[in-house]
Amino acid sequence: MRRYVIAGNWKMNNTPDATRAFAEALAPKIAGKDGCDVVLCVPFVDIAAAVEATRGTRIRVGAQNVHYEPKGAYTGEISAEMLLAVGAEYVIIGHSERRTYFGETDATVNLRTKAALAAGLKVILCVGEVKEQRLSGITDEVVRMQIKLDLAGVTAEEMKNVIIAYEPVWAIGTGLTATPEQADETCGVIRRVLGELYGAEIAGATVIQYGGSMNEKNAADLLGKENVDGGLIGGASLKPDAFAVIVEAANA
Ligand code: PGA
Repeated sequence: MRRYVIAGNWKMNNTPDATRAFAEALAPKIAGKDGCDVVLCVPFVDIAAAVEATRGTRIRVGAQNVHYEPKGAYTGEISAEMLLAVGAEYVIIGHSERRTYFGETDATVNLRTKAALAAGLKVILCVGEVKEQRLSGITDEVVRMQIKLDLAGVTAEEMKNVIIAYEPVWAIGTGLTATPEQADETCGVIRRVLGELYGAEIAGATVIQYGGSMNEKNAADLLGKENVDGGLIGGASLKPDAFAVIVEAANA
């Protein structure tokens, strides 16, 4: 009953011209592969080009962050209304790079999440443990805490527009991937917390992605797991061929 969602996180890569070229290359490769949703989360300045270049395809477009205030004196920030106005439908919130390099906390992740949902965006909320936490055996506690803090005040109705991305920080951009069993286990922990917060029906319907060095070689094994409903893909989402193979794996 859950639909796979394969989302690319381009991070700080590609200009509008490169975005158009990418979309033109990707669209025919995934045409007819309708068994999953496909999202490209691109830099702010590429959103308009991505929306234009993917019109008429099944590729949806997202941003990589959003501010929680609707407008005002927040130099350098972008509001949910602005994202919607240029055609973005999704937004990544709480990515570990935002948390590590830009001072993002569970409190600001929660504010952004509530603002994005209230405005009508679909949220890809990222959680995940760092290496020391996994080695200390507290992965479950860490993701449970993040889920509870980041979703505080989010209603059951709004959960229809929430995707959780489980991204072990030690696996992001490192070439180290969680084993399919590790990914499944922690995605399962997240589903149990969602069950405690929102009940079994919503927990069972929520898409939980794995992210962290997912690529064209390991995607099928990861996506084959019960609790893994898709992927948030960084490096491999910059290559149309690799990304198309991952979409294909989600259709198998
Ligand atoms: P990666 O990034 O696939 O390059 O590890 C994933 C992410 O940061 O979302």
